[in-house]
Amino acid sequence: MIYIKNKTELDLIRKSGEILRDTFLEIEKMIRVGVRTEELDSFAEEYIHSRGALPAFKGYQGYPASICASINEEVVHGIPGPRELEEGDIVGIDMGVIREEFYSDATRTYAVGEITEEARNLMKITKESLDLGIGKVRAGNYLSDISHAIQTHAEENGYSVVRSLVGHGIGRQMHEEPQIPNFGPPGQGPVLKPGMVLAIEPMVNVGTKDVLTLKDKWTFVTVDRELSCHFEDTVAVTEGDPEIMTR
Ligand code: MF3
Ligand code: CO
Repeated sequence: MIYIKNKTELDLIRKSGEILRDTFLEIEKMIRVGVRTEELDSFAEEYIHSRGALPAFKGYQGYPASICASINEEVVHGIPGPRELEEGDIVGIDMGVIREEFYSDATRTYAVGEITEEARNLMKITKESLDLGIGKVRAGNYLSDISHAIQTHAEENGYSVVRSLVGHGIGRQMHEEPQIPNFGPPGQGPVLKPGMVLAIEPMVNVGTKDVLTLKDKWTFVTVDRELSCHFEDTVAVTEGDPEIMTR
């Protein structure tokens, strides 16, 4: 079932999301050639703690870090380590916060130095797809209106959307119902109601939509090793405009 959050619960998710947004503002300043993704991870972990919250990913189903850092052909769930960011990389930083029992979840993809035109356009279209999906977060719309908006924009621009990973409801748990695919026809699934909170997260690929996991059991990569991009925000359905809790 889809939990409808009351005002108190929405306030708590908003607070959680504020810490997550602030963590991104700090992480953004650290993105440069030569930084190790484990440095970003330890900074985020300490920063989130300093704000009186916990990194939501650490220990989640055995996940070993506080952030995911997915570089180039890595789609999601890249594990931070000694690898240094290089000129021309794009890196998706996915982070979650839990504060007073409420989760928030978001992803930003960053350019490292000068990147190719292709990479820049992929980032632009993926972010626009997320924003178009968020634009459908209105009471009375159908869940799959979000999915359809994302898929349409990505595919109209020549890209593919990952099928096997989806967005999700969020609140007292990181992953709640409903699942939110980034593809599909409009007008299907549950009708959106005020108090629903959704983590919307398009993963958009330059080449094939197909992905596989590496031997580390976490990192998803594109099968053809072409670029992939990911953006995510935690968004509440209100009586009016969508409320983005993580910006
Ligand atoms: N944002 C990711 C998701 O929604 C969460 C990462 S799972 C973890 O699936 F295991 F890496 F924490
Ligand atoms: Co998520």
